[in-house]
This record gives sequence, C-alpha cells and structure tokens, in this order.
Amino acid sequence: MGQNNLLEHAKEIWHKAYVPYSKFRVGAAIRTKSGKIYQGCNIENAAYPVTCCAERVAIFKAISEGELEFDRLAVVADTDRPVPPCGSCRQVLSEFCEPHMEVEIANLKGDVKVMTMEQLLPFSFTPKDLEAGQEG
Ligand code: THU
Repeated sequence: MGQNNLLEHAKEIWHKAYVPYSKFRVGAAIRTKSGKIYQGCNIENAAYPVTCCAERVAIFKAISEGELEFDRLAVVADTDRPVPPCGSCRQVLSEFCEPHMEVEIANLKGDVKVMTMEQLLPFSFTPKDLEAGQEG
C-alpha cells in the first residue's frame, strides 16, 4: 500500500470496526504534517452513547502519541453516498485541523468527495471564542 494513499489506509481498518449493534462499519485515516498516518475504526458499546466514531479514534490515537498538526483525513463506509462525518467528529476535528485542510469522504463503491474542514463545519466554535468569553 502506498504510504500516501490515505483512503486505502481507511479501507484497511474499516474491516476492524467493532460494530455488533449497528453493523455499520466506518474506517478513517488521518495524516500528520510530518507524514505519519494513524488509522481508526468505530468502536461501539452495549451502552450505546459511549460509542466512539472512526474519525475520533484516529485523531485521538494521533494526539495521544504527541501529534498536533494534521494535513489530511480520509473516511470510508459502505454507504450509497460518501459517508458524511457526524457533527461531534466535525467539532473534535475542528479543534486540531485548519479550516483549509481537506477531508476525503468516500464509500466502498469508489465515490469520493473532497471537502475542507471549513465546508464541513462553517462558523465553528473555536478556542478563540472560548478565550474571548472567559471571566477574569
Ligand atoms: N459513525 C462513525 O464512525 N463515524 C461517523 O462519522 C458516522 C457514524 C459510526 C458510529 C456508530 O458506530 C455507527 O457509525 C452508526 O452510527
């Protein structure tokens, strides 16, 4: 697998999704500015709301290894249209990914849509907004 083929990394980990409840697999791969790739799949739980999406697993793995700068994300599922990342993931990603960063969203049929973070989550709440509204 080519080191730069981020989508292939997302497809590879798609198989490892732990989805006994939804039976809906998602794979993600995020690349750091230094070129390292971290893969993530969705991990569900009998207590449904604590499920973690593939995108968050990928970025949390990277952050926990000390990575803070990202340049591309790929996400894939077996859907009719390229799989849209959920709102919670968009917010988490927006904390670390710059507005112009591209996200490659895809399905297993080969449809691919490339969107920027800004397009996925316009007018997002940022650390600057938090700082501006804090007391003291
Ligand atoms: N899921 C993801 O992993 N990423 C998304 O952006 C959409 C939803 C997962 C969560 C859950 O395991 C399953 O898909 C069904 O919602």
